[in-house]
Amino acid sequence: MLFESLLPNFVGPLVLACLATPTCRGESLASVLKRVDDEDFAARVNGDRAAGPGTTLDIKEIVIGRCWDYQRVIGMKEGKPLSEVDCNGTAWPAFVNAFAYKSPCSTPEDAFSNFIKIMTVSLPVNGTLFWSGTKNLALMYSELSGGTMFSLELTFFGYTVNGLTWCGKHTGGIHGINYDSCPSFGDQSCQSPVSTVFWGSASMSFARQARGSISVLLDGSDPRGAFRNNSFFATMELPNLDTAMVDLVNIIVVHDLDGHIVDTCDNGTILILKDRIIQRGLQWKCKDDPKLAKLIQCTENPDNEKCNLTSGVNTLHGRSWNFIVLTLLASLWMIWTC
Ligand SMILES: *[C@@H]1O[C@H](CO)[C@@H](O)[C@H](O)[C@H]1NC(C)=O
Ligand SMILES: *[C@@H]1O[C@H](CO)[C@@H](O)[C@H](O)[C@H]1NC(C)=O
Ligand SMILES: *[C@@H]1O[C@H](CO)[C@@H](O)[C@H](O)[C@H]1NC(C)=O
Ligand SMILES: *[C@@H]1O[C@H](CO)[C@@H](O)[C@H](O)[C@H]1NC(C)=O
Ligand SMILES: *[C@@H]1O[C@H](CO)[C@@H](O)[C@H](O)[C@H]1NC(C)=O
Repeated sequence: MLFESLLPNFVGPLVLACLATPTCRGESLASVLKRVDDEDFAARVNGDRAAGPGTTLDIKEIVIGRCWDYQRVIGMKEGKPLSEVDCNGTAWPAFVNAFAYKSPCSTPEDAFSNFIKIMTVSLPVNGTLFWSGTKNLALMYSELSGGTMFSLELTFFGYTVNGLTWCGKHTGGIHGINYDSCPSFGDQSCQSPVSTVFWGSASMSFARQARGSISVLLDGSDPRGAFRNNSFFATMELPNLDTAMVDLVNIIVVHDLDGHIVDTCDNGTILILKDRIIQRGLQWKCKDDPKLAKLIQCTENPDNEKCNLTSGVNTLHGRSWNFIVLTLLASLWMIWTC
């Protein structure tokens, strides 16, 4: 009697929350990951592989150094562990034991759970930033926010390993690490590549932690659409938001400076995203090309005509400065030639 009346109330919401999460439907992480668009994934998994085809050289020093850097130097108020994490004695072993002396293609789903748990910090409410096709912009956004907005790459675990390549080797590696080659991206024979499993679990854990309103930066000039249902965001992050803790999704649609417009807040695939958000019981807001985004784009492209910061007044100043500099140069030239 008691159970009968309690069950629907308790189990209902739980089951619904669970159905929305792919891994909860009994599907393996590896098979969910297979649905993610390769290009989207590659932007996360590999920096640009400039360091070579195998594990990034000196990875141990880099990981341990970044881990201390994050705790000691970066100086953010938020997003730090409550008590210090020992980078050498705790963080590095948790990371390397997930893959050293192991095949890089049969990584268990929970391989990195210990590392991720050790490196999890509490992020500010309203402070989670997701992105799709806009990695650089999102990184700049979160860096410029002064510790109020975090993209995955700026969280403790993301920061520590971002842009690195790593994989293990059963035998013949150095301390079980393969510095010569790691499975290439999109290698179909590689069942569950080690870095893919890492970024998949890291993103899921990041999304589950989000609180309050979250933001997502999308590329409204991407010919495939700003919101793609096989994107990393759609597959790994949106379904893992805890709807009891998140209430609003701020959609930010950014267009390239050349003015290619595929989707805006009012049309195209953004409408599909709005539907998905509503289906998850959340609210949305949407903004096209906010000023901060434009400013960041302009730092990468200062000569673009849309980045003309010159107003009438500044033009005058500009001219007078030019004039002073030219006069000075002319005087110097005259002194030298005399
Ligand atoms: C780093 O950790 C290893 C294993 O825990 C230990 O042997 C070594 O002394 C530590 N090094 C430093 C500099 O703390
Ligand atoms: C989070 O954002 C909402 C509006 O979306 C605001 O009402 C709330 O005060 C914010 N919370 C914090 C802790 O900043
Ligand atoms: C994903 O999008 C494609 C094309 O836009 C559509 O055909 C397909 O049904 C969608 N899949 C899901 C699961 O929504
Ligand atoms: C959306 O609207 C913009 C203009 O506001 C237009 O350039 C673009 O082609 C539209 N996209 C779609 C998918 O209809
Ligand atoms: C920048 O704007 C000013 C004033 O609006 C204009 O005079 C100037 O020609 C512009 N420069 C470029 C490179 O577009």
